[in-house]
Amino acid sequence: MTFSTHRRFLRATVAVFAGVLLMACGKQPEPAPAPKAEPAKAAAPAPAPARVYVVGTDAAYAPFESQNEKGEIVGFSIDLVRALAAKAGIEVKLVNTPWEGIFNTLAQGDRDLLISSITITEERRQTMDFSDPYFDAHQLIAVPEKSKIAKFDDLKKLKVGVQTGTTGDEVVSKLLGKTNTNVKRFESTPLALKELESSGVDAVVADNGVVINYVANNTSAKFRTVNDPAFAPEQYGIAVKKGNAELLGKINKALADVRADGSYEKIYTQYFGAQPAAAKK
Ligand code: ARG
Repeated sequence: MTFSTHRRFLRATVAVFAGVLLMACGKQPEPAPAPKAEPAKAAAPAPAPARVYVVGTDAAYAPFESQNEKGEIVGFSIDLVRALAAKAGIEVKLVNTPWEGIFNTLAQGDRDLLISSITITEERRQTMDFSDPYFDAHQLIAVPEKSKIAKFDDLKKLKVGVQTGTTGDEVVSKLLGKTNTNVKRFESTPLALKELESSGVDAVVADNGVVINYVANNTSAKFRTVNDPAFAPEQYGIAVKKGNAELLGKINKALADVRADGSYEKIYTQYFGAQPAAAKK
């Protein structure tokens, strides 16, 4: 059998059969080349693999967590979690995770931590554990500049956009009724705000920081914000799987450290300007 016919034959034959044939010809198949990834230095003992904590965040929530032009996850929460990781001496890997289902990723063990502007609520405490609060927030209404809306109650008979499953969804559902079709739920807050821009809804209710940021950076949308003292104070916490006291302890310790050494304030000021005195601890 010539080499070329042999090759042609090989191509037309299943691998196992070909192997048998080769041996029948008295020719052993070449041993498979060693995997090229490991050059000589592979012989050195590998350092113990560091535990990498997977951090989930819904990166459509500027200035807290968003994606830049390069697709990198950036923002206040990201700088904070990196500072916390450095303090705690742990390695973190950020993974963009849709808000819907984000809590399940903790329960399933796909994420070790969530930092996603998550408001600490009693209901959520039933299924996950939260760090000490790291940010104060409240709901805020975005409306078209010309809108007559002056307070939260004015939204009762109107179409209101919210991000599904957020505290904004909760307060609006409470005011309008959970099954009211005027509650328009969106996958992300920017999508709800886009809908406001195209007049599909009359208002959007979401976290103050995000609404303020959007209105300021999208002046062509011609929005203004409406605050209402009726909105309850909210606090963001970092979530871990229920019962993960070890990781939670590290996070809380690191949080106290970054507050004490001024790095929290530095990150805060970078994104929001001077920190209100009351928020300093
Ligand atoms: N603070 C609100 C909540 O916990 C909204 C958070 C939404 N975060 C996000 N990255 N989309 O329900």
